[in-house]
Amino acid sequence: MSVEDIKRNSQGLRGKIAETLASDAPLFEENEFQLLKFHGTYQQDDRDQRVQLRKEGKDRYHMFMVRSKIPGGMVTARQYIVHDEMADRFGNGTLRITSRQGLQTHFVLKGKLKDCIKTINECGLTTWGACGDVVRNVMASPVPLKTPAHEDMWALSRELADVFTAHSHAYSDIWLNGEKLGLGPTYESEEEPIYKDVYLPRKFKFGIAVPPRNDVDVYTQDLGLVPHVEDGAVAGYTLIAGGGMGMSHGKSNTHPSLGKPLFYVDRAHVVDACVAVVGVQRDHGNREDRKQARMKYLIEKQGIEWMRKETIARMPKEAAVSDPKPIAWSTTGDPLGWNEQGDGKLFLGLWIPEGRIKDLEEAKYRTGLREIAETFGFPIRFTPNCNILFTDIEPGQKDEVDALLKKHGIPSHETMSEARLLGMACVALPTCGLALADSERVFQELLDEIDVHLRELNLDGEPLLFRMTGCPNGCARPYNADFAFVGKSPGKYAVFVGGSHRGERLGRLERKMVGLDDIPALVRAYLDEYVASREEGELFSDWWGRTRNYTAPSFEQFHEESAAAV
Ligand code: HEM
Ligand code: SF4
Repeated sequence: MSVEDIKRNSQGLRGKIAETLASDAPLFEENEFQLLKFHGTYQQDDRDQRVQLRKEGKDRYHMFMVRSKIPGGMVTARQYIVHDEMADRFGNGTLRITSRQGLQTHFVLKGKLKDCIKTINECGLTTWGACGDVVRNVMASPVPLKTPAHEDMWALSRELADVFTAHSHAYSDIWLNGEKLGLGPTYESEEEPIYKDVYLPRKFKFGIAVPPRNDVDVYTQDLGLVPHVEDGAVAGYTLIAGGGMGMSHGKSNTHPSLGKPLFYVDRAHVVDACVAVVGVQRDHGNREDRKQARMKYLIEKQGIEWMRKETIARMPKEAAVSDPKPIAWSTTGDPLGWNEQGDGKLFLGLWIPEGRIKDLEEAKYRTGLREIAETFGFPIRFTPNCNILFTDIEPGQKDEVDALLKKHGIPSHETMSEARLLGMACVALPTCGLALADSERVFQELLDEIDVHLRELNLDGEPLLFRMTGCPNGCARPYNADFAFVGKSPGKYAVFVGGSHRGERLGRLERKMVGLDDIPALVRAYLDEYVASREEGELFSDWWGRTRNYTAPSFEQFHEESAAAV
């Protein structure tokens, strides 16, 4: 059955999930597998064990990834501690901060799935809508600055998360014994005013950023939002529509896209505008071919002017819509280390390797973070770069926190190259069923080697953006990085170069297939050229734009090796 039919015939995303959950069946069938995503969980298997189990004539080792949905990445210390406990009770003893500010628990067995999801709801969060063809976790810059733009952005992220929560009671019926959702509204009627009876053609992603920090990567979102302040308050938002990272190797009609400015709308009608955009995609998005179903392809086919008209036609007449406003970005990175919030308090940005919270031999991230949460109770925010911010810290507490970090061997960001701090890698093996190569598990070692070159060239303070994924789906947003390594087959990667650490430019395919061990030398060749011909103080991103005569990317450039590759 097609995914469209599965959704249509699912009785509000129920299918036979409850029956299979209650049965002895070791796994869910294809139809339920698809529906489970809407409930925030992926059925997976441990790919490290596949070969051995096959040799022994045994079935795969099936388990689940459970994704907690966290608008703006904001949790209380208590919610963090609950997740930390869950990692032992239900998972593999680690937690994964995701590139969309959520938290994932991996290796959850079927028998523990219900308990796991219930526990997340009992602490006031949810997994409902964390995956599936709906509006996913709403991203918002987590930097806790007390400015009108930031305050309004967080309010809007919660409004959007509520407005786009599916009304079906399937989730509470299946996982919560009919009780209320941990996060977000529950509705009397199960009728879906936004999702109707077949939900959206594909996932839909919102992200809000306050210039000049493009930490949520607004151009990679289906709909990015940027606030504009007038007279000390947010007057409206510029909407940026049609971003999306996914593509398929060798399928020339698939490619990453950056969003395009749609329009500026007054604050009172921002939510109306978002509902209208999602409505256009619901009614006109491609439902025949899932590889063409994201809104970026609709906009490409019909044009941004058509999108503007269709959207405005669905908005209230009194909405004040005008041309998008100019926006300038400085970085996609996070503010790490100690910073002021602007209200007399401090926040601390901690770099987490690949967002995987676990105890390493030298750095006890998991124990250390938990002790900080337990001792001080600081509110926590997960960043879109898979790092952590502890917020609302009194200046007098700084030394005690520093002492705790030292006790657990958690390194200061000052000891690391800028490239390492900015870098991001997706989960990939062994849990992701779509991975063609490793990503998270090899990224730090790859950066160790690249760091040697950076030090030699005196570039360790340079904001170079490296991103890596285990397949072309693009979960770590690779295609707008300065350098991206995208898995093709075990140990082999396609290399893209020439995005920007500000997130507003796509790179191009330089090499179709490079062995993992050969990547550092290839990077070195680009850096040599950069060092030799850059202008005084010129950043790599800007040097690339100048020397490569950068124009808007053509779609072929993601599939054909660049003739000018080094
Ligand atoms: C066709 C496209 C895509 C498919 C089929 C897909 C599928 C998946 C799967 C199966 C996982 C689970 C990996 C694991 O935890 O074991 C995953 C993780 C994730 N994906 Fe995707 N994905 C796609 C594109 C994207 C894109 C473009 C983004 C964001 C720009 C994204 C964001 C995420 C996030 C936040 C995670 C959690 C882990 C992480 O941070 O790497 N996905 N995806
Ligand atoms: S990019 Fe590919 S390998 Fe990495 S998590 Fe996403 S789907 Fe899996």
